[in-house]
Amino acid sequence: MVYKRGPYKKHSNLKLYCFLLVAAVLICTVYFIWKQPADNVIEKSALERGSFMPQEFIPKTEPNNKPHPIVREKIVHLDLKGAPPKVFYYDHFFNLISKLGATGVLVEYEDMFPYQDELTNISALNAYSLSEIQTINDLAAKYSLKIIPLIQTFGHMEFILKLADYKKFREEPSTPQTICPTFSETLHLIETMVKQIIMAHPKSETVHIGADEVYYLGNCNRCKDFMREKNFSKNELYLEHVNSVAKIINKVKPDMRILMWDDELRTFSSTDLRSPHTVLNKQLEPVVWKYSREVYDELGPGLWVDYAGIFDKVWAASAFKGATGSSEIVSQVTHYLQNNRGWLSLIKEHEHRVHFAGIIITGWQRYDHFSVLCELLPVGVPTLAMVLRLVSGIDDSPMTPPLEVARLLNCSQPYGLIGSAFGSPRCSYLGGNLLESALALNQLKQELTSLKEDSRVKGWMNSGYNVKYQFSNVRHMEAIKAVLMRLQAELNDLQVEIGTSLSEIYDEHTVKEWQSTHVQPFAKEVETLLATCDKLLAKDTWPRRPLDRDEL
Ligand SMILES: *[C@@H]1O[C@H](CO)[C@@H](O)[C@H](O)[C@H]1NC(C)=O
Ligand SMILES: *[C@@H]1O[C@H](CO)[C@@H](O)[C@H](O)[C@H]1NC(C)=O
Ligand SMILES: *[C@@H]1O[C@H](CO)[C@@H](O)[C@H](O)[C@H]1NC(C)=O
Ligand SMILES: [Zn+2]
Repeated sequence: MVYKRGPYKKHSNLKLYCFLLVAAVLICTVYFIWKQPADNVIEKSALERGSFMPQEFIPKTEPNNKPHPIVREKIVHLDLKGAPPKVFYYDHFFNLISKLGATGVLVEYEDMFPYQDELTNISALNAYSLSEIQTINDLAAKYSLKIIPLIQTFGHMEFILKLADYKKFREEPSTPQTICPTFSETLHLIETMVKQIIMAHPKSETVHIGADEVYYLGNCNRCKDFMREKNFSKNELYLEHVNSVAKIINKVKPDMRILMWDDELRTFSSTDLRSPHTVLNKQLEPVVWKYSREVYDELGPGLWVDYAGIFDKVWAASAFKGATGSSEIVSQVTHYLQNNRGWLSLIKEHEHRVHFAGIIITGWQRYDHFSVLCELLPVGVPTLAMVLRLVSGIDDSPMTPPLEVARLLNCSQPYGLIGSAFGSPRCSYLGGNLLESALALNQLKQELTSLKEDSRVKGWMNSGYNVKYQFSNVRHMEAIKAVLMRLQAELNDLQVEIGTSLSEIYDEHTVKEWQSTHVQPFAKEVETLLATCDKLLAKDTWPRRPLDRDEL
């Protein structure tokens, strides 16, 4: 008998959380009173009542922090290949990020762009219309944000090359990931996309041409022949295509700034980067992306020496969501803060050598065209707010709740912004209820995970023995069933709330997709486990052993 009696795990967790919360509140209170006398004490008690009045955001520099480098451009990435918000949401979102110091947005449309004429079949069936894009442009202008459209031109062409009509453009026939740079129709296709996207953004002076994760390069016979003929390496083939794309952009609209992801270039030797055959177009500005916690260590110093010698301007790309797991539903705040802090140290270290044009704070919504949705944009908003403050030079202490962010996002429980162990932050910004629901769902999922690790499940619900022979301990099955029933009831309530909060910001397709991905499999699992409990509880007499004697 290995099962230990005692309160069920959920309750001991709850006790632990309560204890942590009380401890945190005490520590923070002492810290606050000690650090900032008088006015903050008043603020604190107002916070506890959850009734403080939101104020306009006033950046405050804290004297104790070491100075951060000035990050010129602060661009927020909008990954629209998943969960594109309804257009009215941009008014709210742009207002918020511009208050927090953002200078623009990088818009990754993929199939959400309304391609015209010969390209109409590339667009998703729920793509934005041209007039909606006009509205988004106008809203960006209203809040003084520039729009940088991202146009895929090499890797991550899945949204086009998956279609039967575009199969012939593939570098590798079995997968739609990469476009063949030497196929006769490729540059025409790219030029048509570029024209349409640039035309829809008349005010934009910068574009991003993607060019990351080119997983199949120089594979096809056309490319092999081309490389042989020109005596090109694969790397030179890559540079050649990127240059062709830059030339197209120049032709469509001269003097555009052209950004590209740097991960392919990063693998090149200094000699490759300086290939005399394929001198990189001077307008190209690489965006060095790294979304991990240890940016500083992982991007060695050699890279900066190489890039400094080649590029006039270099960009950094950090993350505020979508970088810790392809199916996450809540953000790991500390991961993203550490990632961005790492970038700031790195910029500070190398800015005497490299001209950093700015930082792009990415918020991935899917890992690629085929993957599920990760954290939704409104769920990532508090993290984004903290990151924007950080890159604006205001480093909120990680030990105290981010009061300014809580004020700006109308959150009544600032402690919850640090991590879900402190409860939920109860924010009333547009989409704040989605954050609430995602945290609650995450909690239920964690409870199911620990239930499956419970000794009673492992010892008395084994599929090959207990379930197969309907042979289990009634008392344990009743206890497990009670937990599952509670999870199911809470999930049922939550499902209604999630539906309402999702519909506020997203179209019916996204609502359905999110529920189908993140709620339904979970609900199904709870249901299946309940059915198993019922099966194991259906008997009150059991046969003599061996149980498998019928099979012998
Ligand atoms: C788009 O797809 C439809 C249906 O397959 C086809 O009839 C039409 O010709 C396609 N349009 C273009 C512009 O390729
Ligand atoms: C082809 O390129 C390689 C490496 O750049 C060089 O060593 C070689 O001489 C070149 N061959 C011809 C025929 O140009
Ligand atoms: C916070 O609440 C105030 C007052 O209701 C409102 O004017 C403001 O827009 C809200 N802020 C956000 C980010 O929703
Ligand atoms: Zn090819």
